Amino acid sequence: MASVKLHNGKSFSSETGTSMLDSARAEGIILEYSCRTGRCGVCKTKVLSGETEAFKGETSLTSDERAAGLILTCCRHAVTDVEIDAEDLGALGNIVVKTLPCRIDTINKLADNVVEVILRVPPNSKLTYLPGQYLDIIGEAGLRRSYSIANAQRSDGKLELQIREVELGMMSQYWFARAKANDLLRLEGPLGTFSLREKDARNIVFLATGTGIAPVKAMLEQLLDNPSLTAGKKVFIYWGGRTLNDIYWNPQLQGMDATFIPVLSRADAQWTGRTGYVQSALIKDAIDLTQTVVYACGSEDMIHSARDALTTSGLPVKNFYSDAFVSSN
Ligand code: FES
Repeated sequence: MASVKLHNGKSFSSETGTSMLDSARAEGIILEYSCRTGRCGVCKTKVLSGETEAFKGETSLTSDERAAGLILTCCRHAVTDVEIDAEDLGALGNIVVKTLPCRIDTINKLADNVVEVILRVPPNSKLTYLPGQYLDIIGEAGLRRSYSIANAQRSDGKLELQIREVELGMMSQYWFARAKANDLLRLEGPLGTFSLREKDARNIVFLATGTGIAPVKAMLEQLLDNPSLTAGKKVFIYWGGRTLNDIYWNPQLQGMDATFIPVLSRADAQWTGRTGYVQSALIKDAIDLTQTVVYACGSEDMIHSARDALTTSGLPVKNFYSDAFVSSN
């Protein structure tokens, strides 16, 4: 079996036919990831030496990135011993991914096409996670969909989700027509590595579109609970929607030097706030991007264009963290 060495010296064995991401996890080593299907680009890394082979389509890599030796660890195994420019995420290594039964506690409408679902898990099976992570809900006939957790850890262990209606979406038909309190579901989680990082940067910027605000809400709750994380820093929250109906939540930010900036792409004449795309609004505000860490969550299009636009405008590549919503019906 080939071995994979990380740039901080740790290593793991890569099994043929299993992604490097999963082989690492089997040995308690967590690498950056989100979708696990080659589409979001979060697990992108550079091969420094050795040969790897893709057994799934690396959809989110551009031809320039391929030519530069970048790969997706969720799509490849090692063929020879390799070294990659990645390191493990220590704090996430101790978090156990569980499959648990859960029940709908409450279900409330947040907007015309968004519901908040609060889940409860059995009292002895609390889920431990980092704000920003997501979980999979396994519903009727084994149908599985991913949702970000919208709250920091609560003392009652309940989990909040924000769910947008997807036209003709099979799971949407359940959430928006049949779901009711006490329904029994299963969840698997926590998943993904989207979470706050310790960085020296003076500015913390959140970029969200639609229900991408859910993990941002969870991370803001974590910041509010831990004032030392924002001491001497400025926090900016850019939230993009089409119309005012999409801005269904108003963050409470007392105790933080924080600014909330809703941005509408199809505003009506009465709207006097910001318009356009969230990443363009951020660039227009001329915040020193060299001193900024960005956490972005929302559509694949927003994530890809935000990464390009912001890194071109001075944001260090390693200060861009993202979780793209990869669509499924
Ligand atoms: S592309 Fe690998 S985790 Fe999304």
